[in-house]
Amino acid sequence: MARKFFVGGNFKMNGTRKDLKAIVDNLNNAQLDPNAEVVIAPPALYLDFVKQNLQKPNVEVAAQNVFNKPNGAFTGEISATQLLDLGVKWVILGHSERRNELGESDEFIASKTKYALDNGISVIWCCGESKDTRQAGETIKFVENQLAALAKEINDWKNVVIAYEPIWAIGTGLVATKEQAQEVHAAIRSWLKQNVSDKVAEETRILYGGSVNAKNCKDLAKEQDIDGFLVGGASLKPEFVDIINANL
Ligand code: G3P
Repeated sequence: MARKFFVGGNFKMNGTRKDLKAIVDNLNNAQLDPNAEVVIAPPALYLDFVKQNLQKPNVEVAAQNVFNKPNGAFTGEISATQLLDLGVKWVILGHSERRNELGESDEFIASKTKYALDNGISVIWCCGESKDTRQAGETIKFVENQLAALAKEINDWKNVVIAYEPIWAIGTGLVATKEQAQEVHAAIRSWLKQNVSDKVAEETRILYGGSVNAKNCKDLAKEQDIDGFLVGGASLKPEFVDIINANL
């Protein structure tokens, strides 16, 4: 089965209504590859605003976080019920910024992933190594450990998209080479084959994230195990359309 090309835009903590309206208008007015699945993740405050302004049926909206418990006394958190109330069907979990800046553990991320999936929300689950880990030659082992923590919690992978985001490539302009990215993507797929199933390995989309832009996306997209991108900085710019259209 061919895996559908997937492009996510992670706006992180960027944008006001004015900025977001301009980004959404740019997407509304663009010719987007009909074979690409597109999901944009504005800050939670603006999920509804972005959703209301989007006019492209094949562009969905994602939250950048969700909690692992139902509604209740959890100051500052967002529940799956609330996301569904707004029609938000995706969430990004496990981003290295939340792992590192906010101290989210593999186990906590896995439990949030399970909770989101159990409540009908699809997950863009992120993994990836630091520069030190890469230099120590431990990238694959590190990513496999992150995957193992997730696999302990979840059985159903059909609504999971994996994003491999080497931390040293995020926001640095230092994109992984296509060989570096392909090597880790292939290792993730092989881990899924050995530890989950042939079907999950074959069908799960594995995105690359880290300094993707209009110039480098086409070459990366040609790699066998790169099924799309999770884009940060460039998703705030008009060139996001070129990344969505990387295969055209
Ligand atoms: O989640 C996307 C990401 O972390 C990559 O960010 O700015 O390097 O494209 P950026």
